[in-house]
Amino acid sequence: MRRPSPIPAVFLLGVIATSVFSAGRMTAQQPLAPGAAVRDGQDTVPVYSDSQATAGATVWTNTCSECHETKDVTGADFRTKWAGQPVFALFEQIRTTMPDGNPGSLPREDYAAAMAYIFKLNGLTPGAAPFTADSVALATVKLILPPAPPTP
Ligand code: HEC
Repeated sequence: MRRPSPIPAVFLLGVIATSVFSAGRMTAQQPLAPGAAVRDGQDTVPVYSDSQATAGATVWTNTCSECHETKDVTGADFRTKWAGQPVFALFEQIRTTMPDGNPGSLPREDYAAAMAYIFKLNGLTPGAAPFTADSVALATVKLILPPAPPTP
C-alpha cells in the first residue's frame, strides 16, 4: 500500500480540469483531419482496407441492418461514446455483444469486415492492410471521429 500522496488537492483539481479540457477539445474540434485513427494521439495510421469495407457492407446488409440504421454507428451517441477510445475496444464490444441475442456467432473476419465498413462510414482513411483486430497492434490506436453534423 502506498502512503497518501502529499500533492495538495488544489493542484490535483487543476490537473483534472486541464485533462477534461483537452479531452473535450479532442472530440469537439479536431486538430487532425476528421475521421482519423491515431496512434498515441500522434501519428495518423490506416486501420482497414477499402476492399475489406466493401465486404463489410455485405455483412452489414445481411446481418446488422436487421436491427440497425447507419446512424447507429455514425450518429452523435456513437461518436460521444467511441471518439477517442481504442479501436480494439470497439471491435471487442461488437464481437462480444452483436448480433444482439446471438453474440460471437459470426466468423471473426466478418466482425473485422463490419468494423472496416463502420470506419469507412465514419470517413476514416483506408490503407493497404485490412483491419486485423490484433489486440497488441491496436491497443494504442484511438478513434478520432468526425465532428457531429449540424442538427436539422
Ligand atoms: C438482433 C438485433 C441486432 C443485430 C442483428 C445487431 N445488433 Fe447491434 N445492437 C442491437 C441493440 C438492441 C443494441 C443496443 C443495446 C446494446 O448496446 O446492447 C445494439 C448496439 C450496437 C452498437 C452500439 C454498442 C455500444 O455500446 O455503443 C454497435 C456498434 C452495434 N450494435 C453494432 C452491430 C453490428 C456491427 C452488427 C452486425 C455484425 C450488429 N450490431 C447486429 C441489436 C442488434
